[in-house]
Amino acid sequence: MKRNYIARRFQLGGTGLSLDTEALSKYKDIIDLSIGDTDFTTDEAIIAAAFRDAGLGHTHYGDPKGDPELISAVCRAWEEDFGQPLSGNHVLVSASSCLGMALTMLAILDPGDEVIVFSPYFAVYRSQIELAGGVCVDVPTYADENYAIDEARLRAAITPRTKAIIFNNPANPTGMSYDRDTLSMLARIAQEYDLLIAADEIYTTYLYEGDFCPIRTLPGMAERTITLNSFSKNYLMTGWRVGVIIAEPELLAVMNRINGALVYTAPSISQRAAIQALSMRRSIREKYISEYRDRIFYAADRIEKIPYLSLVRPKGTFYLFPGIEKTGLDEKQFCEALLERAHILVTPGTPFGVSGAGHFRIACTVGIEHLKIAFDRMEKLSF
Ligand SMILES: Cc1ncc(COP(=O)(O)O)c(C=O)c1O
Repeated sequence: MKRNYIARRFQLGGTGLSLDTEALSKYKDIIDLSIGDTDFTTDEAIIAAAFRDAGLGHTHYGDPKGDPELISAVCRAWEEDFGQPLSGNHVLVSASSCLGMALTMLAILDPGDEVIVFSPYFAVYRSQIELAGGVCVDVPTYADENYAIDEARLRAAITPRTKAIIFNNPANPTGMSYDRDTLSMLARIAQEYDLLIAADEIYTTYLYEGDFCPIRTLPGMAERTITLNSFSKNYLMTGWRVGVIIAEPELLAVMNRINGALVYTAPSISQRAAIQALSMRRSIREKYISEYRDRIFYAADRIEKIPYLSLVRPKGTFYLFPGIEKTGLDEKQFCEALLERAHILVTPGTPFGVSGAGHFRIACTVGIEHLKIAFDRMEKLSF
């Protein structure tokens, strides 16, 4: 008999987040609101800088820690934006924040160690934790509590095996952003139980009220926070695969060793592009992110008028996470009905953890004219 060569931990299935190409090819007039990729091409000045620097010879392996010019630019930007000094030995450039989070989990987890995530969460976290031999502990947050992180629920989930908390702010898929009180509560708990915080802060410019505050900047948190940044969303550079990990040098040294066995270094041309992107961060925000703000608010207004949906209004990202309790369907049945009856592709809430049930995710990655058509179609449906 043929042996099953697949490692047991990979026989669990995927994240449920890949693009449904079969559904997309089913209808000519389909509107795809399923995937978390920006619909704008990277700004032409960033592309031009990458071409220029490639021509100047940036086509080789680089420093495994990252392009020194990029690291300096990251430190400068961090201090300018958040008022906290950052030295280059606290920065490791990674080929995306997905890889950054995977490196984080590989560096900190022994088999059976537990990591707390707040559901609904970015579905890939579970795979990243399990890939490293860890256990993903789901602490739910709920729509009827505005996705607030409940301190009692969090404390009840902490065990002697808990090593870290993954905290995503602003959050995919709910669009929620968390205020200073929540940050302080998490910081207090992390210090009390001696935990790390893996802070996924990749949607920071998609914040529609207040200024962004990284949890690393709270008192006592620099030494226990691993910050994951990425150029993918904030700079509309998903395909370039470049991100940044900010953490204590001892942790970064281990991640760098693991990274050496995986990809060695982030793409050198993408890192040159990232230097240009950082120098343009204000204009990029004005030029592109304001468009996402308009779309999110337009979509929220339309959803609030659809009787069979409910919504916690998002404060950040380009996602909305409506509830479907009133339809009497589960999320899979609802998404199938939306596809068949309105030719709209969305993502069911279940891959986002236990409290994703009864919801679906809309990614506002089409223009308002297409959102309008999508919501006109949804408005005509009844359940
Ligand atoms: C919350 C969150 N974290 C991380 C990622 C991965 O981003 P990157 O392109 O940097 O791997 C995504 C992508 O959708 C995300 O939504």
